[in-house]
Amino acid sequence: MAANTTNKTAKLIINGDEANAAEFPILSGTEGPDVIDVRSLYKQTGMFTHDPGFMSTSSCESTITFIDGEKGILRHRGYDIADLAEKCTFLEVCHLLLYGELPNTKEKEEFERNITMHTMVHEQLQILYKGFPRRSHPMAILVGAVASLSAFYHDSLDIYDPEERDLASRRMIAKMPTLTAMAFKYSIGHPFVYPDNNLDFAANFLNMMFAVPCEQYKVSPVLSKAMNKLMILHADHEQNASTSTVRLASSSQANPFACIGAGISSLWGPAHGGANQAVIEMLDMIGDVKNIPEFIKRAKDKDDPFRLMGFGHRVYKNYDPRAAVIKDSCYEVLEELGAVDNPKLAIAMELEKIALNDEYFVQRKLFPNVDFYSGIIYEAMGIPTTLFTGLFAMSRTAGWVAQWQEMIADPDQKIGRPRQLYIGEGARKVLPPNKR
Ligand code: CMC
Repeated sequence: MAANTTNKTAKLIINGDEANAAEFPILSGTEGPDVIDVRSLYKQTGMFTHDPGFMSTSSCESTITFIDGEKGILRHRGYDIADLAEKCTFLEVCHLLLYGELPNTKEKEEFERNITMHTMVHEQLQILYKGFPRRSHPMAILVGAVASLSAFYHDSLDIYDPEERDLASRRMIAKMPTLTAMAFKYSIGHPFVYPDNNLDFAANFLNMMFAVPCEQYKVSPVLSKAMNKLMILHADHEQNASTSTVRLASSSQANPFACIGAGISSLWGPAHGGANQAVIEMLDMIGDVKNIPEFIKRAKDKDDPFRLMGFGHRVYKNYDPRAAVIKDSCYEVLEELGAVDNPKLAIAMELEKIALNDEYFVQRKLFPNVDFYSGIIYEAMGIPTTLFTGLFAMSRTAGWVAQWQEMIADPDQKIGRPRQLYIGEGARKVLPPNKR
């Protein structure tokens, strides 16, 4: 699939000079806004576009994920996210992201086998983990551990061989839950738990998190269903900061394990995946429903850096469809755990109600995003706050590797190299120290 060239063009008249106007083709995708193809801009005009934060810039063609932020729509390969979350397993969605289609029964079995055969990690990695201080943030460990996989698989990897790319992708999807659970076990001083491939993918993760050698642990089906859903909801989200990081880092043909490590670093920030941890910290800080007005006031104050975490999105100007599914799951999980009167849920719901009726949030179209309710479920499951973003990374790995594969397979792929508007000093000569 490739973008369609329309018969529309965009004309750029600089300083009223119509005779030398630059002209650009307009490309159209299957859905979403058309784009002006400005690749020839520099050649035609000697100028660049200037778009820090990529407010109006499309960086690639993609067939994986479509978002309509105005309507609150998210689809992977044409399937609505709520439909996928309701009816699929995480591994089926991984298959969809990687290969373009949901697997049939035979393909599903085969794919599951091809993933689970890679769930173990090299024993040497235990030594790497043990080199970290026990109190390390799990994201610091994950950045290091995932990037270190490049040392284990570098020699065997030819990124221009589709089979080797596929193998690297499957390895990454398979090993992320193991590495994430290991980061948790290490932080509390428990022995690492090996993967159990008799369990489904989500249940296996919960088992590696909570099982201990000294007693039986049985994964609750309600919790593994919720974990499966959360994994699906975080699996991909087109060209967000971490995915763009993975694409840019790998555009130099670098080792993909190292590039996923770069993606994890980008995800960690509170404006991106780190928001799930920040939401719980914010709910703790609010402490009581009666304090909400004070925090709403702070969020609106331009002189106060405080923002409502889990609110707002660059693309969604409507309710994030992932947040709607997570909110429903939240009741189910809390009920299973006998914690429906969870005080944080009460604060979150009241906060949402007040914000959605407040002029400031309405005008700016700020709605709850994926991170607003996910932390409440994670916390109720017994997952520590600092691991929330690790869970996001574990699920998003599916999207990262699918986007990486798509990019490397694209014959028009070039190394990513943005330009800049230089505003520093002009040319000058180095003076000896006593004259500076
Ligand atoms: N609380 C208060 N005001 C906000 C918020 C918020 N959470 N988000 C945006 N605004 C205001 C912002 O101050 C600005 O106001 P004004 O026009 O008066 O200057 C306006 O809304 C537009 O915000 P922006 O910062 O220009 O928008 P952006 O697209 O650059 O940022 C965002 C998007 C997600 C970084 C931002 O909404 C935010 O910081 N939200 C809180 C952090 C968060 O929940 N992040 C998770 C995002 S979803 C999951 C993911 O991608 O990983």
